[in-house]
Amino acid sequence: MVIAIDGPAASGKGTLAKRLALHYGLPHLDTGLLYRAVALALLDAARDLADPAAAAAAARGLRAEVLDDPRLRGSAMGEAASIVSAQPAVRAALLDWQRRFAGAPEGAVLDGRDIGTVVCPDAAVKLFVTASAEERARRRHRELDGRGEPIAYEAVLADILRRDARDADRDAAPLRVAEDAVVIDTTALDADAAFRAATDVVDGRG
Ligand code: C5P
Repeated sequence: MVIAIDGPAASGKGTLAKRLALHYGLPHLDTGLLYRAVALALLDAARDLADPAAAAAAARGLRAEVLDDPRLRGSAMGEAASIVSAQPAVRAALLDWQRRFAGAPEGAVLDGRDIGTVVCPDAAVKLFVTASAEERARRRHRELDGRGEPIAYEAVLADILRRDARDADRDAAPLRVAEDAVVIDTTALDADAAFRAATDVVDGRG
C-alpha cells in the first residue's frame, strides 16, 4: 500500500506521515529532504542555487547518507530547496529515487508536494494536508521558538506565503490537490485528530 501525502509548508504533513508509517508498518520518505539535500550540496560547493547544470548534477549525485544531516532541517534550507525544486532537471533526477522507494514490496508512505500528482499517481491513498497560512505560521513560529531560534511571527508568515507562492506557481510539478486526493484541513485539528481523520481514510471509513 502506497500512501501519498502532499501539502504546503508547515501543514503538519510530515508529522502525520511519520505516524501513519509507524501505525501501518511502512517505510517513510520525507521527499522535501531530497530537495533540501540538493540545496545543501550546492551551498557547500559554493554554487548558485539557480544554476541548472550544477543543480541537476547535485541531484544525480545524491546519496542516502546525506539525508541525516541536521543542517537540512532549518528554515533557510527549506527556502533554498524551493529554489532548486523549481528546476525540471532536478525533479527528473529525483523522480527515480522516489519511485524506487515507493516500489518497496510492502508499500511506503511518501510526503511532499507532488506525490499524488506526479511521483505516485497510482497510490492507494492520497491525502492533501493543509491549514490556513496563519495557523501554519503560528505552528512554525512556536517550533522555532522552542528550538531557540527567536523570529517574529510576521517574518514566519511572510516566509510561508512566499514559499506557498513559489511552490504553487512553478511550471514543473506545482503544488496541486490530486483529483482523487482527500483533503484534511488541520486548521482546527490537533495532531491526534489529524491522525484519526487520516486513518479513517486509509481504513475506508473516511
Ligand atoms: O517539505 P519541505 O519544507 O521539506 O520542502 C522543501 C521544499 O522542497 C518545498 O518548499 C518545495 O519547493 C520542495 N519540494 C518539492 N516537491 C516535493 C517535496 C518538496 O518541490 N515532493
